[in-house]
Amino acid sequence: MDWILENGIIEDMDNEPERSPDSWERLRADCAGCMSCELGKTRTNLVFGVGNERADVMFIGEGPGEQEDLQGEPFVGPAGKLLDIMMEIIGLDRTKVYIANIVKCRPPRNRDPLPDEQAACIGWLHRQIALVDPKIIVFLGRIAAMAFIKPDFRITREHGQWFDVNGRKAMAIYHPSALLRDPGKRPETFVDLKTLQREINALHD
Ligand code: URA
Repeated sequence: MDWILENGIIEDMDNEPERSPDSWERLRADCAGCMSCELGKTRTNLVFGVGNERADVMFIGEGPGEQEDLQGEPFVGPAGKLLDIMMEIIGLDRTKVYIANIVKCRPPRNRDPLPDEQAACIGWLHRQIALVDPKIIVFLGRIAAMAFIKPDFRITREHGQWFDVNGRKAMAIYHPSALLRDPGKRPETFVDLKTLQREINALHD
């Protein structure tokens, strides 16, 4: 059955409209210039994501900080330097993983992204995850874990544990910023990273 819509376009109602599969090109174009929330007004750069677009492992942080906003790349400030070291400990680097954030624009004064900001932005990340199709997702900190694992996620109790997130193995670890503030948490994170490393190695068995 065909319907003539207000704009004169004839739509075939019996068939789902054909949608070609998503692509990085389309996603980047759709996301560029996003103004879906207030953070778009104050950003210097939208911080899309970086790394291996076919990675087995994806790291998901909270949102860009000052340096990320200025440079347009995730985790390039002090927390990012520590993340690089954390990855190196288990044989990873930015060519082997994909890195993105819950929100793509910097929240003012590095506050937590608000629920409506997260809701406005999360669709971009869902599309990135679908395109990367990682086997393992590592959430950096409580905010990212709450958005994907469960709203009442307790980072102090549940870091380093495996969860299922839409059929993918998922773990949260302390955010590198938390490890900079409280180096006493680093030994626990070392254990978590080793757990992650074993799982990555098992992918190739
Ligand atoms: N903190 C985050 O959560 N993400 C970044 O990109 C930088 C700092």
